[in-house]
Amino acid sequence: MAIQDVIRMGHSTLLKRAEEVSDPKNPEIQALLEDMYDTLEEQQGVGLAAPQINVSKRVVIFYVPSDRQETYEDADEEVPMTVLINPVIEPIGDEIEESFEACLSVPGMSGLVARWANIRYSGLDKDGKPFEREAKGFHARVVQHECDHLDGVLYPMRVEDIRDFGFSEELRDSFMEEDEA
Ligand code: NI
Repeated sequence: MAIQDVIRMGHSTLLKRAEEVSDPKNPEIQALLEDMYDTLEEQQGVGLAAPQINVSKRVVIFYVPSDRQETYEDADEEVPMTVLINPVIEPIGDEIEESFEACLSVPGMSGLVARWANIRYSGLDKDGKPFEREAKGFHARVVQHECDHLDGVLYPMRVEDIRDFGFSEELRDSFMEEDEA
């Protein structure tokens, strides 16, 4: 039960496919979840994947705060802290949405990433019980971003035009100029 260091882009663990969890009730996994909650809270992020604290297991946690709804016209509801183990994602339909993402393993940066707008995801919860949910908008984006970490994919690898990747503060300035023009 401790805050762990978040490893950053360049660390080899972030490029590996993480291993399936065979027994979610194993105390080792429960301790991992505690570390992940503590680390996410300290970092004030919305999601964290186990590889980001250098544990190559297929475990992610995330939540959707209510204020995120403003970002999306067709936003879904606030989503409480969710544990997702051995996740599987399926797109629903073929709609794609582009939006800026950031990552605790790529601090200070943002990039424009295309994601499925609507998905169904399934996996095991913290007690090892199977569950399934549908998600759209920001919720769907967070799940896709976190699950990418389990396959060794960081969002900058998905940025189609490198000009859409940069320091968050600089990008924010250029958006403001565009808005004002
Ligand atoms: Ni990330």
